[in-house]
Amino acid sequence: MKVGVIGCGTMGSGIAQVASTANCEVVVYDLSDDALAKSKSALAKVMARLIEKGRVTEQQSHAIQDRITYSSELNQMQGADCVIEAIVENLEIKHKVFTALESIVSEDCIIASNTSSLSITSLAACLQKPERFVGVHFFNPAPLMKLVEIIPAVQTEATVLDKAKATIDSWGKTTVTVKDTPGFIVNKVARPFYSEAIKMLEEGTADFATIDWAMKEIGGFRMGPFQLMDFIGHDVNYVVTETVFKAFYYDGRYKPSFTQKRLAEAGYLGRKSGRGFYKYTEGAENIEPTKDLLLGEYIVSRIVAMLINEAADTLHVNIATAKDIDLAMQNGVNYPKGLLAWADEKGIQYCVTVMDELFDEYREERYRCSPILRKMAKNSTTFF
Ligand code: NAI
Repeated sequence: MKVGVIGCGTMGSGIAQVASTANCEVVVYDLSDDALAKSKSALAKVMARLIEKGRVTEQQSHAIQDRITYSSELNQMQGADCVIEAIVENLEIKHKVFTALESIVSEDCIIASNTSSLSITSLAACLQKPERFVGVHFFNPAPLMKLVEIIPAVQTEATVLDKAKATIDSWGKTTVTVKDTPGFIVNKVARPFYSEAIKMLEEGTADFATIDWAMKEIGGFRMGPFQLMDFIGHDVNYVVTETVFKAFYYDGRYKPSFTQKRLAEAGYLGRKSGRGFYKYTEGAENIEPTKDLLLGEYIVSRIVAMLINEAADTLHVNIATAKDIDLAMQNGVNYPKGLLAWADEKGIQYCVTVMDELFDEYREERYRCSPILRKMAKNSTTFF
């Protein structure tokens, strides 16, 4: 199989590595020679590390690198069975590339985009044959993260969706199918993990170290919300929240926070700039968590109920199946449990009660309980 990758920044380079490791012949195109050279040398370094760790042999490492061709000419995509685009997040620029690409590849070549925030339908619309277009959303770093969200556009033919899914499954990834809606599954369902944590910080319910401690030690999450936001970068994380908020027609449930916006404005972007909520410079002192168990349990129950509510509502409006929603959150952001399975475990009525108590207290849209939870509680049903 010949796979084309357009754009070899962070994501394109990772996707090329994944496809080549799965024995595909890969052609990588980028308009920057510098980016092409960097991508090639970054892969050589990754492979050297994998040899050291005993994950690949010298021979496999050479084969993986040799199967990838780097080119600054788009017509190298000729003969590709599937092309995945991972260039700058801009609709007009992506349209230009797809239009040029369609005149090069064959009729039955699948054209895919790795976009995080643009509608797949709007991207497909520029093509002569939009039925061949599909979204394939990898997570960063693509070689390590198991999840790939597969998003058919309104125009996508069922066979194209099936073929894209089968191909990426054969690369050893876990795929989930998602309706073309803002944030897909992961970037939508995960919003309360950050926003509810920031809300509690703003209101003085607890400091950020205590909230992180509670989510890790009591909630079982790998990282606390503030650690994770510092890791992702406040510029990136804030933009995702704002994009989802706007795309859902300003639904109060996704309202971004000034606290995070100010951090981004100050250049306190997190780990990458040496300071976010925490300080990362050598010898810097950070606050210690309070480790108050009752407070910790309150924090976890509030954030987890909000996450469950968002996951349930995602099912309610048929964005994905219950199984795929749970798979996505476990494999895309490493949640300790699937949120809907967690709801079953906690009890649906309990989740409704937590949401209703929050709504009574705040009278804010963000705390409205999903109708599906209310209905399930009434009928005593479970997700699985
Ligand atoms: P990046 O900035 O690291 O790389 C983009 C690459 O595209 C650069 O090498 C650039 O030279 C090239 N490029 C720009 N315009 C081009 C054009 N017209 N033709 C050919 N090459 C062009 O970007 P990154 O982070 O890899 O993101 C790429 C796409 O993947 C975006 O759509 C983004 O939304 C999506 N994405 C990003 C994730 C991340 O964590 N960085 C996660 C999942 C999706």
